[in-house]
Amino acid sequence: MKRLVVGNLKMNLLSPLEREKYFEFFDKESANKELDNIEIVLCPPFVYLEAFKNWAGKKLAVGAQNMFAEMKGSYTGEISPAMVKNAGCDYVILGHSERRRYFLEKNEEINLKVMAALKVGLKPIICVGESQTEKENQATLQVITDQVKECLFGVSRTKMEKIVIAYEPIWAVGTDEVPPANDIMEAKVLIRKILVGMFGRPSAEKVAILYGGSVNARTVEQVCVEPGMDGALVGRESLTPYEFLKIAEIINNY
Ligand code: PGA
Repeated sequence: MKRLVVGNLKMNLLSPLEREKYFEFFDKESANKELDNIEIVLCPPFVYLEAFKNWAGKKLAVGAQNMFAEMKGSYTGEISPAMVKNAGCDYVILGHSERRRYFLEKNEEINLKVMAALKVGLKPIICVGESQTEKENQATLQVITDQVKECLFGVSRTKMEKIVIAYEPIWAVGTDEVPPANDIMEAKVLIRKILVGMFGRPSAEKVAILYGGSVNARTVEQVCVEPGMDGALVGRESLTPYEFLKIAEIINNY
């Protein structure tokens, strides 16, 4: 499986001008880089999906940051899985901690979105991870277990190669704090074990397990390379193509 480097641009790049500048910098910085061992996925806000796809062509993949679980109908303000797919996306981030925190998304709802994504052929990047309080209460492993099991409930094993799981400790997102490599490795081993229990080893091994939360060119060694992750989910640093591609290059070369 190719390693994945995913950029979550969140609610940034406020104007078409900023967006065009981003494309320009990204093209300039990626021109001389060898990135054949990884797949890069950029996840811009919904309104830019088509522009990103037109610019990206075949050189990189595009993903949405969220979507609704229903396919069509009277759901004012929501975006359908089919719309995301038809905008040219291959991926969709689901259950990001900011969605859980500000929009009160629960595992059950995320599970419906996972099923809907698979139905239209989108690859869900499912975010799991503990909060600061859960960490202090030593509930990390239980939280991860519940999230993985509940978010993947009812998914068929034939779909496993489309599933991506991002371990993102909530306390590490947007903070510049990162867990030690050993803790990340422990989370990865646990996630793989849960997947083996649910889907059997051959299917479980097709799932890419990423790390996310304050990944940058200085932390990437500790949070991705050392624990042997299948890639990274990058927030802030994805807004600066120079920094993002430095991370991508390190993941490409390990
Ligand atoms: P960060 O965000 O890299 O800015 O910590 C990661 C994320 O939210 O996916």
